[in-house]
Amino acid sequence: MKKIIILNASPRKNFNTAKLLKEAQKGAETAGAEAEYYNLYDYKFLGCRSCFACQRKGSTTEGVCAIRDDLRPILEKCIAADAIIIGSPVYFSYPTGVFRSFAERLLFANHTYMVDRENGGLKRRLNKIIPTGIIFTMNCPEDLAKDINYPITLGESVNNFRHIMGYADALYSYDTRQFDDFSKYNCDLFDEKHKEEVQQTQFPIDMQKAFDLGKTLTEMN
Ligand SMILES: Cc1cc2nc3c(=O)[nH]c(=O)nc-3n(C[C@H](O)[C@H](O)[C@H](O)COP(=O)(O)O)c2cc1C
Repeated sequence: MKKIIILNASPRKNFNTAKLLKEAQKGAETAGAEAEYYNLYDYKFLGCRSCFACQRKGSTTEGVCAIRDDLRPILEKCIAADAIIIGSPVYFSYPTGVFRSFAERLLFANHTYMVDRENGGLKRRLNKIIPTGIIFTMNCPEDLAKDINYPITLGESVNNFRHIMGYADALYSYDTRQFDDFSKYNCDLFDEKHKEEVQQTQFPIDMQKAFDLGKTLTEMN
């Protein structure tokens, strides 16, 4: 049976990012996969420590970061998986720090500094493709996100996964509702009615896209 690893890099376990990830999980399961879901904020880990154990001549790390901490078993599962789906809110124009720490650990252990003289660029270390889906959620509307360069700030992460894992696709969910009850917060930037409307109209479309992403990635391997 195909194995899909789903990773929530949002601290909230039941909000925008998690809802989309759970829908992606349903899509993967519909396509016959067994999915394992992890809330990354539940695990104690930091980013790459630049020990270079994975880049040494004769390294035996085999695509799994040498640091022995909470993340290691999850990294092992990612490398053995048929697909990975990771979701992150946008925090100050970038994925969360936890997303980035995870990405450093997964990607650097599978990165090489070896030039691919036949095809150009750098050689891939993984000898297979692990299709990766990345779901970004943000309270910014789509037009503004484009104006303030989110396709670049977020796209860089997608490019890194694409190169190292062999395939990556992204789903951007804009204009999310940050609070359940706006009346409890000091916030007049957002129009609650508009946010509610987006929840009723656009968010279900994003949920369908998340389902399709999970299904499509599962069917790729
Ligand atoms: C610390 C912090 C920083 C944020 N920075 C941004 C930002 O730069 N751009 C944006 O569009 N939304 C930003 N947001 C809003 C979240 O990205 C958005 O509400 C997201 O959907 C939350 O995901 P969640 O519901 O899974 O927690 C920020 C939220 C927090 C808590």
